[in-house]
Amino acid sequence: MTDANTPAARTVRLEAEGKSLNMPLVEGTEAELGIDIAKLRSSLGMITLDPGFGNSGACRSAVTFIDGDLGILRYRGYPIEELAERSTFLEVAWLLIHGELPTKAELDGFANSVTHHTMLNENFGRFFEGLPTDAHPMPACAAAIGALATFYQQPETEQNVRDTVTRLIAKMPTIAAYSYKHSVGQPFMYPKNQLDYCQNFFYMMFGTPCEDFVVDPVLARAVDLLFILHADHEQNCSTSTVRVVGSSRANLFASISAGISALWGPLHGGANQQVIEMLDHIEAEGGDVARFVEDAKSKKGSSRLMGFGHRVYKNFDPRASILKKSCGEVLNKLGIQSRQLEIAIKLEETALKDDYFISHKLYPNVDFYSGIIYKALGIPINMFTVMFAIGRLPGWIAHWLEMRKDPDTRIVRPRQIYTGATKRPYVPMNKRG
Ligand code: ACO
Repeated sequence: MTDANTPAARTVRLEAEGKSLNMPLVEGTEAELGIDIAKLRSSLGMITLDPGFGNSGACRSAVTFIDGDLGILRYRGYPIEELAERSTFLEVAWLLIHGELPTKAELDGFANSVTHHTMLNENFGRFFEGLPTDAHPMPACAAAIGALATFYQQPETEQNVRDTVTRLIAKMPTIAAYSYKHSVGQPFMYPKNQLDYCQNFFYMMFGTPCEDFVVDPVLARAVDLLFILHADHEQNCSTSTVRVVGSSRANLFASISAGISALWGPLHGGANQQVIEMLDHIEAEGGDVARFVEDAKSKKGSSRLMGFGHRVYKNFDPRASILKKSCGEVLNKLGIQSRQLEIAIKLEETALKDDYFISHKLYPNVDFYSGIIYKALGIPINMFTVMFAIGRLPGWIAHWLEMRKDPDTRIVRPRQIYTGATKRPYVPMNKRG
């Protein structure tokens, strides 16, 4: 696994409790350094303690590079700014999964396969009928993706995994749209093969059998951009979940379903919904941005500034910068005046001048502006995190495939520092209390 035994290897020496250990330094292609602690427990009888894993690398990965201090994000070496400007979501999905940008033939072939796998088994209609009518689309999606595993139970050969990848990317927008249609009591719309990925999603979401539905290309491109920006973010909470579940050799459907559940949390993908709720709240309270910022600083209740702060970015989130610009453009093109955007800009300006936010290195993250765009595009608020999940899917898949091929992969099974009671005798019922 490491080059610890070669003479040139750089090491870190740890001395503790009268014992010592030389641990190899591991260097990534961007000169990131890590300490390989694989021998720590067997040599010193100790483990590391790192709640939230802020200092722990779980794997080597060649998918995405982030430099949080410099605000750099690259998929497979390509800067996010260039991909956002020049690429499409399906092209980015291929890049993440295969490691290289596709040739024209590869991209056409991929788009064609995806298009021809978008339909769901008819039994899915009954699956959705079993859910309450007001079912939140996010757990509905997680359940439906997990349920796909019951329709495709073939052994895990390379070809079958490739088919699963295509099916997931193809069926995710259909499942997302069906989850929404179920929640509003409208008939499911079958996918249309003449539409591209994002157009088809809009059609399945907002079309009805009663009339023709024409998708505005401005909306489709805006969603394509959002999907690109969401497509991967290295070892974030949901991607780590996908890797952890997959490390037990659970199949790709089950692993992705777990990733969707992890993404739902308000500190992760659920933040975009919380941002809109926060902006609505500020507006309802008379638009007093300064007071809201003061509340967030005072840590009263749960009044964090949603859409602000990031575990990795401590300078700016490059995705937020791209979205801020795109947000203005999309609203302009659609001719929408957004009070929420005005409040968001004021909130950002106020927070960025504030000592608390400066000293805590808290900047707008990708979720700060994505909710405003989704709202302008007519996406219902409970679908925001589902949109994030559609975008993040290729990243989850790329990491799952990488994890499965990595010879260092072992089932994920962290250790703990036990803090409970020490050994004590059983207390009979009549002696308790
Ligand atoms: N508003 C106010 N204070 C904040 C915020 C915020 N949004 N975020 C962090 N802080 C403060 C904390 O109170 C803490 O202060 P202290 O050191 O004085 O106690 C300090 O900054 C560090 O915060 P942690 O929660 O320890 O930082 P962590 O790296 O664990 O959390 C997170 C990062 C979860 C993103 C956090 O910044 C947060 O809750 N942000 C709001 C939710 C959000 O926007 N999530 C989306 C993230 S992006 C994504 O998942 C796509």
